[in-house]
Amino acid sequence: MSMLDIITYGHETLGRKAAPVAEFGPELGPFIAEMFEALKRGNGIGLAAPQVDRSIRLFVTDLEGDKPRVFINPEIVLTSQETADIEEGCLSLPGLYQKVQRPEAVRIQAYNEKGRPFTVEADGMLARLILHENDHLDGILFVDRLNALKRERALAQYRRLLRK
Ligand code: NI
Repeated sequence: MSMLDIITYGHETLGRKAAPVAEFGPELGPFIAEMFEALKRGNGIGLAAPQVDRSIRLFVTDLEGDKPRVFINPEIVLTSQETADIEEGCLSLPGLYQKVQRPEAVRIQAYNEKGRPFTVEADGMLARLILHENDHLDGILFVDRLNALKRERALAQYRRLLRK
């Protein structure tokens, strides 16, 4: 089994809008298995395909206390008016953690690896994770959700981390 490398901030794929998965073919299963492997190796809780340099609309989550989940061609159909301020990190910005304000709850529709549609309603950490990973499919990183000043400070901190 090949190993997927996780790309980091500054790589152009992370800033691109990913394309829908067009075919639910047999190569999807092994790719998803590799995504979960890469997620485990990175000690992460979520990973989107653009983070392994595949610009397709697919992400996986593996949150403690929850089952491993695969979301393909997801659509956010509803978000709560209520927001929450929760600290986030990202395998593509290793070592950087920032509080980000996002909706507290979400309803998302997506397809599984067999092409079957499903809907998930989530709040708390799962909602947070879904919104973070879904952003990756649109080329948005969590630092892009900060105001301009906080974003600059966060990126300066990240650059300092890289030099260490
Ligand atoms: Ni991320």
